Amino acid sequence: MKAHTKIIAASLTFLLGSALGFAAPAAENWDNHCAKCHGADGKGQTKVGKKLKLKDYTDAAVQAKMTDEEIIKVTTEGVMADGKEKMKAFKDELSADEIKDFVAFIRAFKA
Ligand code: HEC
Repeated sequence: MKAHTKIIAASLTFLLGSALGFAAPAAENWDNHCAKCHGADGKGQTKVGKKLKLKDYTDAAVQAKMTDEEIIKVTTEGVMADGKEKMKAFKDELSADEIKDFVAFIRAFKA
């Protein structure tokens, strides 16, 4: 996705978030809670992201395999693999509405 499209998408999310009175807009939550692994651009090319082999959310094929429900479930409950926590659950830090906002935000990474 081109940078300016992403900025527009982020601003829209912000405006919508403020209009509805959410605690924090998805873009801000993403930067604070998700970007260190998934990357500010959603590509997962951070130091941690590479180690964890994170998916590239700008890839249409990756997006197609992921449902909105999965985005919400994974963010709420986290990811476990081999009995170890790979991604923590965010249900204690973010509200259900904030978590739901990630769906549109993550979808907007798609090129
Ligand atoms: C400690 C690093 C880390 C952080 C921080 C993190 N994640 Fe993840 N995330 C992972 C790992 C590991 C996976 C599982 C591998 C994968 O799906 O790429 C994952 C998977 C996901 C998936 C599932 C993809 C699918 O295919 O179903 C979503 C959606 C997701 N993360 C969203 C988020 C959101 C939103 C945040 C911030 C609130 C976040 N992640 C924070 C490491 C992280």
